[in-house]
Amino acid sequence: MTSGQGGYAGAYRQSLEDPAAFWGEAARSIHWIRRPQQVLDDSRAPIHRWFPGARMNTCYNALDRHVVAGRAEQTALIHDSPVTGTKRAYSYAQLLDLTARFAGGLEALGVTKGDTVLIYMPMVPEAVIAMLACARIGAVHSVVFGGFAPAELAVRIDDARPRVVVAASCGIEPSRVIEYKPLLDEALRRSEHRPDFSVIFQRPQAKAELTGNDVDWATLMKPNAVPPAACVPVEATDPLYVLYTSGTTGRPKGIVRDNGGHAVALAWSMQAIYGIGPGDTMFTASDVGWVVGHSYIVYGPLLAGATTVLYEGKPVGTPDAGAFWRVVEEHRVNAVFTAPTAFRAIRRADPSAELLAGRDISSLRTLFLAGERLDPETYRWASSTLGVPVVDNWWQTETGWPICANPIGLEQLPLKAGSPSVPVPGYDVQVLDPAGEVLPPNTEGAICIRLPLPPGTLATLWQDDERYVASYLSAFEGWYLSGDGGYKDEDGYVFVMGRTDDVINVAGHRLSTGSMEAVLAAHPAVAECAVIGVHDELKGQQPRGFVVLKAGVDEPAATLEAELVELVRSEIGAVASLRRIDVVTALPKTRSGKILRRTMREIADGGEVSVPGTIEDASVLDTLTPVLRASR
Ligand code: COA
Ligand code: AMP
Repeated sequence: MTSGQGGYAGAYRQSLEDPAAFWGEAARSIHWIRRPQQVLDDSRAPIHRWFPGARMNTCYNALDRHVVAGRAEQTALIHDSPVTGTKRAYSYAQLLDLTARFAGGLEALGVTKGDTVLIYMPMVPEAVIAMLACARIGAVHSVVFGGFAPAELAVRIDDARPRVVVAASCGIEPSRVIEYKPLLDEALRRSEHRPDFSVIFQRPQAKAELTGNDVDWATLMKPNAVPPAACVPVEATDPLYVLYTSGTTGRPKGIVRDNGGHAVALAWSMQAIYGIGPGDTMFTASDVGWVVGHSYIVYGPLLAGATTVLYEGKPVGTPDAGAFWRVVEEHRVNAVFTAPTAFRAIRRADPSAELLAGRDISSLRTLFLAGERLDPETYRWASSTLGVPVVDNWWQTETGWPICANPIGLEQLPLKAGSPSVPVPGYDVQVLDPAGEVLPPNTEGAICIRLPLPPGTLATLWQDDERYVASYLSAFEGWYLSGDGGYKDEDGYVFVMGRTDDVINVAGHRLSTGSMEAVLAAHPAVAECAVIGVHDELKGQQPRGFVVLKAGVDEPAATLEAELVELVRSEIGAVASLRRIDVVTALPKTRSGKILRRTMREIADGGEVSVPGTIEDASVLDTLTPVLRASR
């Protein structure tokens, strides 16, 4: 066991007993324009705010500060793109120059502090530049994952009400080039809100036709086209970004991240959890559209003065399952962070890791995995293949950084397969029973976090404090409801068993079965429907849909099933990957009409099945069982 910084137990205790002292000390790593006088404001509990009255700029902390400190020539970002066959490194000075120029461009388009800017881009450096440029001028960015379809994009446009949209002309999937501009145009046709401008970054793989209020990224970035923007001071409590995530209903939740608390927490996590400091290199294989991308592709590594690898490719097939090893070798990567699915995909394609032979991955110190449950098999394979600690961390879009982890920068605790280890300093994690009582060890219940949540976690939901409180803070007074179920063992290790709501996790992508059901229910032939997440060897979970047709519908079931699959794909996006829908005669329900989705999932997964005594007609389950089991 290695130990640094006084160890985990002391840090954890202090963070809970005296959060103001703990986070006040952590705040010293950030450059402030007005230093924090107060650490925690609980005057509006249950909503808490960190560092009220302090002023800073997140972009200054991510870029300018390192240039000022003599790191101008150090590489800040490496774009490694096997799907386009290109690689390019940007020094801190170059990234700062491009960011300041794009920020100037946004200002020229009328964007000012507090305005929102929606970013719809693939894994290109311009996405990072656009995010940092917003931070620079105090605008609030909202990045939308490229795999979402126009309808989902439109919902986000209407909620975030961006003054400007920044998009790329296309994204590149191994199998196809995805033109973003037609998707954006369709989303704008569907949305009520009208942004003033769309800035389009043209890529050679598919150039977009620019019309009306479209502005070419290249025009804005021409030398001397606009003056570069200076950093605008913002309040620590001002929003830095809104990131939409799936909730239990079809309406996504706009998670709001503030500036000050976010910078303090991420900077602290880089060193205490990830063990990454100035000059180190971190390779986070995710997407800028997800929280992992926000925190550990963009802000975390740059706040730490490290080098971040922006990888535009897949773990397999671009060109093969050795892609990650190549990236580690070529860029001397010290930490890899991805979702377990990526490692399951690599293992499936190259079970004995033959593609690792001859690669020098000696720079790699740790593999971090998050986003979904890390199954013990994948954990063991990754550990023995790489010969470095494999650290599972449990967190959510809402928290923005890990709730549970093995904090190797503080102290490497023993690892336990199947557990993301212990609560991170700042998080008082307990397992509650339905009455809100803390459960003893090894007893499963709702995993909750005692308020206040630490800095860097969600400040609220975008312009909707009420929904924030109703969704997360009202189930148990004084607690944040994580939505995950699980237990703690006698050593305080947390075991996360899965969501207790209608959120599912497909290949580390968080999706709502509720929103898929809403699409199916809107089809004229569908009387009622259910979508459940079933176990999948590769992706962790896969959605499956079941529909009951209205009387008199005479379209063949197979035709309808295919039509419905296509409908979900076009309304939510390819990423929903709902590939199988079955037409059935009835759905199992309680006497009060609630569909027994959990029982259906248990039957499909082949585990223990709990049938509630309130079931209306048990014979429906008997009829459905062979259909549910057919997925295995
Ligand atoms: N833009 C547009 N479409 C996208 C997309 C994006 N950014 N990302 C995925 N899609 C599409 C895919 O092309 C695929 O389309 P298809 O149905 O036409 O084939 C669909 O969405 C489903 O994608 P995915 O779930 O990723 O499956 P896959 O079979 O293409 O790839 C893996 C499987 C394992 C290689 C892939 O899921 C992966 O790399 N997972 C790693 C996990 C990860 O990075 N998670 C992020 C959170 S940390
Ligand atoms: P997201 O908001 O997309 O990061 O998804 C958050 C959800 O993913 C959590 O609520 C969990 O259900 C799941 N999750 C994330 N990390 C882990 C992990 N390490 N172990 C188990 N589940 C996880």
